[in-house]
Amino acid sequence: MNFLNTLDSDLNHLIQSAMRFKAGDDQCKPLSGKSVALVFFNPSLRTRASMQVGIYELGGNPVVLEPGGTSWTLEHRESAVMDGDKTEHVAEFVRVLERYCVAIGVRTFAPLKNWQEERTDPVLNAFAKYASVPIINLESAMHHPCQSAADMMTIREKLGAGRKRVVLTWAWHPKALPMAVPNSFALAAAQMGHDLVIAHPPGYELDEDLLETIRERGNVEITNNIDAAFLGAEVIYAKSWGGKQFYGDADRDLEERAQHRDRWIVNEDKMSRTNKAIFMHCLPVRRNVIVTDAVIDSSSSVVIDEAENRLHVQKAVMAQLL
Ligand code: CP
Repeated sequence: MNFLNTLDSDLNHLIQSAMRFKAGDDQCKPLSGKSVALVFFNPSLRTRASMQVGIYELGGNPVVLEPGGTSWTLEHRESAVMDGDKTEHVAEFVRVLERYCVAIGVRTFAPLKNWQEERTDPVLNAFAKYASVPIINLESAMHHPCQSAADMMTIREKLGAGRKRVVLTWAWHPKALPMAVPNSFALAAAQMGHDLVIAHPPGYELDEDLLETIRERGNVEITNNIDAAFLGAEVIYAKSWGGKQFYGDADRDLEERAQHRDRWIVNEDKMSRTNKAIFMHCLPVRRNVIVTDAVIDSSSSVVIDEAENRLHVQKAVMAQLL
């Protein structure tokens, strides 16, 4: 069993388990005497620290590896002729690692070069293909399920159970970013039965297959009007992402997004039109670019609780998988 996206779990059950960990009511140590590998192709603060602490609190030992840094560069493609800069194949990497570790967490961002290829999550799926131990997605090209499970837990904590008007809003950012967070947030919000609004400028549509999956599970409205989106919102979740048609042409994305800089930011004026919405962001966030100081420093902002909940949710994920 893997945790590759939120569809791999019953989110309600997972959140209940995470809340027991947070309250101190669950002191189980399913990792006692065991190790979990954490493979980071990309930088991290929250994911790395919370996984290391979570594994320790479950009685286990985290083994952190950084391919191309503290371990060999990794090839994931099938039948690759490895005469370039990659030293080891995922086939051996995974099968060796699972002789030492009971699960493997993987962080592997989209390089934003080839949309058709990256939308299939090739690196994460190569790990899943070769592993016989659980693979935990710590953010891939298309999904960040630990983040969105923590987001749903935070909404439940702050606003109680039941359907909420949840707005995922694109925001301007000085460079194109991957879609994993908005994808997973939207999918998880639909799974939880929230009324989901996705607001973005034209050209920043999410993956059509993913949207179809979201529509099958819940109520989603998509708009290019950020002002209308904020009306009556109970949750504002801000995130920037790149346009899929600009993968491989970062300069073109920057040209396109430049026109949205002043409008697509979360500020006090927009928040005042909501239904006393909480402000959420996965972090790291660029202040006064994605969100103003006044909003992120206000009592509406729950970003630090959201980050804390990563720890509790990931303990719940590992306890269930292991
Ligand atoms: N939100 C999140 O995944 O943070 P890090 O990139 O710091 O791990």
